[in-house]
Amino acid sequence: RGKKAFIAGVADDNGYGWAIAKSLAAAGAQILVGTWVPALNIFENSLRRGKFDDSRVLPDGSLMEIVKIYPLDAVYDNPEDAPEDVKSNKRYAGSSNWTVQEVAESVKQDFGSIDILVHSLANGPEVSKPLLETSRKGYLAALSASSYSYVSLLKHFLPIMNPGKLLKNQPLCFFSFCRSGGSSISLTYIASEKIIPGYGGGMSSAKAALESDTRVLAFEAGRKKRIRVNTISAGPLRSRAAKAIGFIDTMIEYSLTNAPLQKELSADEVGNAAAFLASPLASAITGAVIYVDNGLNAMGVGV
Ligand code: NAI
Repeated sequence: RGKKAFIAGVADDNGYGWAIAKSLAAAGAQILVGTWVPALNIFENSLRRGKFDDSRVLPDGSLMEIVKIYPLDAVYDNPEDAPEDVKSNKRYAGSSNWTVQEVAESVKQDFGSIDILVHSLANGPEVSKPLLETSRKGYLAALSASSYSYVSLLKHFLPIMNPGKLLKNQPLCFFSFCRSGGSSISLTYIASEKIIPGYGGGMSSAKAALESDTRVLAFEAGRKKRIRVNTISAGPLRSRAAKAIGFIDTMIEYSLTNAPLQKELSADEVGNAAAFLASPLASAITGAVIYVDNGLNAMGVGV
């Protein structure tokens, strides 16, 4: 009965995607996830073996249910796009229908429609290289995995997203998200607009593109189906992806020292902001970059 959310980019219980899934589940949504093909087996096995049970606990004591996990590689839009060596790679050959178009078709077949689309994925093979040392291939790969992947997901899911509804004199009902229409959220990082040395490989450019696209897509999806499109500029979190970049502890320390709120950011805080943005409480918010970073973005100098 609740709203249906498809969250792309969940492969463990440490990242923002997992936390967003939990907040949406706590608010009554049904959770579908898209998991990167190479990470699928280990994620499904860990989930089955109960490795994530502690982190599945919702505020009411029940466990978050993931209704279905779809293999996904958001770098490929349809089967013709995927090169033979990827298709025949043993990590991919065991799964099928993992291109964006096929995943959207599978979700349509299984569930008919969705209400909430979340993009919580990024990849930049040369992220540890300064921009001046980044190859064209590395730069374009960062944009493909981290920015165009969102355009593609929204493009393919939009036809099955329930249109936004006009809310007139409705009682606010946050917990089941009743009566509000579809909306979409992605995750970005302040390196798009301010210099963050260490966030290289074109990843800063990819986030700038994602934020600009958020505005244009808000217009297009808003006019087409009254769907809202927002992005959360999140503070640093020790996720798997962030640990791979190599400077996450420094960033967390920097934030603790300099942000208006001196506390470590928890993934749940980003999850809750996402639930708010997906709810009717945010019915007039679209095309926005919302900071969930303990206020660090507002500082002009370090203290
Ligand atoms: P994460 O490791 O939990 O999530 C990244 C996910 O992307 C992983 O599950 C990975 O398997 C998936 N992925 C990578 N390439 C993919 C592809 N081609 N197709 C499908 N899935 C793919 O890490 P995190 O940090 O939670 O990342 C989620 C989002 O949050 C990203 O957009 C990231 O840039 C953003 N973010 C993270 C911050 C941090 O400090 N951790 C700060 C600000 C934004």
